[in-house]
Amino acid sequence: MAAEIISGTEIAAQIREELKGKVKELKERKGTTPGLVMVRVGEDPASVSYVSAKSKASEEIGIYSETIVFPEDTTEEVLLAKVEELDKDPKFHGILVQLPLPKHINADKVLNAIDPRKDVDGFHPVNVGKLLIGEPYFMPCTPHGVQELLVRSGNSPEGKHVVICGRSNIVGKPLMAILVQKKKGANATVTVCHTGTKDLASVTKNADIVVAAMGSPKAITADMVKDGAVVIDVGVNRIPDETKKSGFRLVGDSDFDAIKEKAKAITPVPGGVGPMTVTMLMANTVRAAEMHSA
Ligand code: GUN
Repeated sequence: MAAEIISGTEIAAQIREELKGKVKELKERKGTTPGLVMVRVGEDPASVSYVSAKSKASEEIGIYSETIVFPEDTTEEVLLAKVEELDKDPKFHGILVQLPLPKHINADKVLNAIDPRKDVDGFHPVNVGKLLIGEPYFMPCTPHGVQELLVRSGNSPEGKHVVICGRSNIVGKPLMAILVQKKKGANATVTVCHTGTKDLASVTKNADIVVAAMGSPKAITADMVKDGAVVIDVGVNRIPDETKKSGFRLVGDSDFDAIKEKAKAITPVPGGVGPMTVTMLMANTVRAAEMHSA
């Protein structure tokens, strides 16, 4: 039987409607308009596209947003001074510095300079630590989006064996910390696989839920997944495609066409996790504004 296709686009739209209501209430009851500032350095095409999507989503929901663009050769000092200025600016409840940053800038130093209560990406070490003990100000957007996708599509991870492929600080590690908590919508048995894993397929075959987040096109194949598993694909890989105006198409980290014939459910790329990441950023910004005006 063909798998259910979990639509991130639809679930994201549902959450955005809920957020519009919260923004309206914040404006009416507290006179607060949630504010988000995004900082982009250089012209990396993927970063340009992500920041633009975040800006559009802000507008749709009623969040005030600004994007500050620095040239590629901006110094670390200039960037740090800007972050410190934004920390103090009451218009902005959330600050996001789009990654990756150019190599001459120490990204950790920049992320550490963001006020943890404005860190809507959830990347500051204070939030990383608080996430591990189960009480973060903000959860990182992509893993939080994965959890929401699972729960809202009727595939709650509670009591399930979740195998996460990939141990990045942005996806794999925080997703592990989220799903292992003794909480509703979590409480899973979690295994994290990575480049040091000896026989990846032998682990993924035991998964009720496979999360593909290794940044490698179609790395999870149908033979690596058990019948009736749920596959969440976090991958966004640009593959050259001359039939497209842009010259490329997006594929995930899983072999969607083959897996959909044996899985219970799978997320597409695009239209799966991507829209959820943007939407959870909006949710974090609204939460930041609520925390500020509580
Ligand atoms: N680059 C890739 N993903 C992300 C993200 O979630 N936040 C930021 N700031 N940069 C990214």
